[in-house]
Amino acid sequence: MSTTDDIKQRLDIVDVVSQYVKLTKSGRSYKAACPFHIEKTASFFVFPEKQSWHCFGACATGGDIFTFVMKKEGIDFGQALRLLAERANVTLTYKTAQVTAEDTARQDHLFKLNEVAAEYYHYLLLHDEEAGAARKYAEGRGLSPAVIDSFQLGFSPGKWDGLLTYVAKAGYRDDEMLAVGLTVQRETGGFYDRFRNRLMFPIRDAKGRVVGFGGRALDDSIPKYLNSPQSLLFDKSSIIYGIERARGAIRQNDCVVITEGYMDTLAAHQFGFENTVASMGTALTEKQISILRKLTRNIIVALDADAAGLEATTRSITTIDQQIPKEHWLAWIEPKTYSELVKYEIQVVEIVGGKDPDEIIRNSPEKWAALLKESQPIIDFTLKKEIANINKDSSKDKSALVSKFLPILSHIDDSVRRAHYVEKLSRLLGLDERFVRDALFELQAREKKYGAASGSKVIKNYANRAPSSRHIEEYLLALLLQFSDLREEGIKISADYFEHPENKDILLKWQGNAGADSFGADIDPALKEFYDHLISLGGQLPPSLHQSKREREYALNDCINRLLEGHIKNLEIKKKLILSEEKDRGDTESQLAKLIEHGILESQQLHDVFKKRGRLFSRIKGV
Ligand code: UTP
Ligand code: MN
Repeated sequence: MSTTDDIKQRLDIVDVVSQYVKLTKSGRSYKAACPFHIEKTASFFVFPEKQSWHCFGACATGGDIFTFVMKKEGIDFGQALRLLAERANVTLTYKTAQVTAEDTARQDHLFKLNEVAAEYYHYLLLHDEEAGAARKYAEGRGLSPAVIDSFQLGFSPGKWDGLLTYVAKAGYRDDEMLAVGLTVQRETGGFYDRFRNRLMFPIRDAKGRVVGFGGRALDDSIPKYLNSPQSLLFDKSSIIYGIERARGAIRQNDCVVITEGYMDTLAAHQFGFENTVASMGTALTEKQISILRKLTRNIIVALDADAAGLEATTRSITTIDQQIPKEHWLAWIEPKTYSELVKYEIQVVEIVGGKDPDEIIRNSPEKWAALLKESQPIIDFTLKKEIANINKDSSKDKSALVSKFLPILSHIDDSVRRAHYVEKLSRLLGLDERFVRDALFELQAREKKYGAASGSKVIKNYANRAPSSRHIEEYLLALLLQFSDLREEGIKISADYFEHPENKDILLKWQGNAGADSFGADIDPALKEFYDHLISLGGQLPPSLHQSKREREYALNDCINRLLEGHIKNLEIKKKLILSEEKDRGDTESQLAKLIEHGILESQQLHDVFKKRGRLFSRIKGV
């Protein structure tokens, strides 16, 4: 993953923009008065799903988090990269596109291997004689054939080389099986199946690819669940069990329910709560939250009822710093982190009437539906739990609790909500509201003075780009940097065709730089490594390009045309988004007019333009 993609994955554009502009929700998007020009009606939109922004008013422009911050802060790409990298906690280093391409090919192959294994296990569960006990177990747990089928549950045979022999026949090598954790290496050499005699749960990512497996023992053996080890494909911190089956329902309900376990998720799906996923027993991570927040802002956490579960709830909700001792769980919730989670509308379901969601749902789906309805915001939940734990006659306890909560309250941005919780805290503790309010003011004054950490460490989402556009852009830049006789053509290229801001930045700087020779020296230090990469890419171009100007012109045009094609497709997507947005607001006509006015033309027209190569540069205005 490139640094910019990594940053984009960690930062959510809604959060980033919200630090500058007050956004209000509008359908699936957010809107505001445009921060870049003065206007009466809000024509500035942020699209969480595409992680992009657009002003349909006078600016008629848009982009991603990088372009937003560049424009808003009046800085260049390198500075924006540094600023956002810091905010996202990303170290700036550059991976070359070549390495990424190799990685991708290897990864695809390994995903396929996992897929073959999932099919093998599933087939055995349904048909193999040896799987009798597993079928019985699944039935005893109430798993319906439909759920077994849709989650592709399986059975791993008891022998040491069942899977190994099967996938070897399918052409996979020992090192590949080992790489995805399907086998284990013997110290004496040789390999054996990791999963034996277990009910198998393939674990898929949001794209539906099998990243690994969980295998449940059919009896009380230890461990109860054996999971794939951390690998190139299996990154525990970003896995969400059930995501690929739950996606649709999450969007539809505009809400996700996060449970702890495989069985909870299966029960939920079986009984129609299809917007349910599992965190797989560990504390929720930022990555998991970010993936889910791409789908909905309404997150309900439903963890088990036992003490550990409750603690896991508070721990997982804070998600971030696992080093801090559990005893201090409320104190160590970093106020700003906590306030983000408050802001993220994370709700908590209290598990009552059963030990976990699986049990409750199978007893009474209605009861589960009612519990979900009663879920409460994390802050209310925490307050309730804390108050239950103190002696309300002890002024010391009360004062300690107020000091715990004030930092949280002080970081609630919305003043009405803040006042609400000041009132609630006062009421629950039997304190005069004025007292709490004054204490809060004092704290805020202190924080201002000593500069409480500003700028939130925000949560991300994913960069949604065709992998190839990066290669084309880089190739194009490498051509320009390598061959000065392409300057005339290169100067005409519209930066709008570029999707990747670092590439766009280099293009614009190159275009604005009269003597291409001095260009390297001017490059922003944050981009230096990347620039060097482009130069070395240029050095590897085929000899034919070095020999013939026609060849290199041809190569350049080819790049431009491909980028233009991608650009048109992006415009189309944007258009659809805007139209669906406008449907929510109900004035399609005027907005369509605006679209056309600002260059988001009908695709047919764009394709016509595309054909008329000679004029294409000047014709298409960017969005
Ligand atoms: P639970 O112990 O709640 O399991 O652990 P469960 O899903 O309810 O399963 P049953 O009902 O006992 O069969 C919650 C989750 O923690 C992970 C699994 O993802 C499990 O679903 N876990 C638990 C493990 O990875 N390994 C274990 O040994 C136990
Ligand atoms: Mn259970």
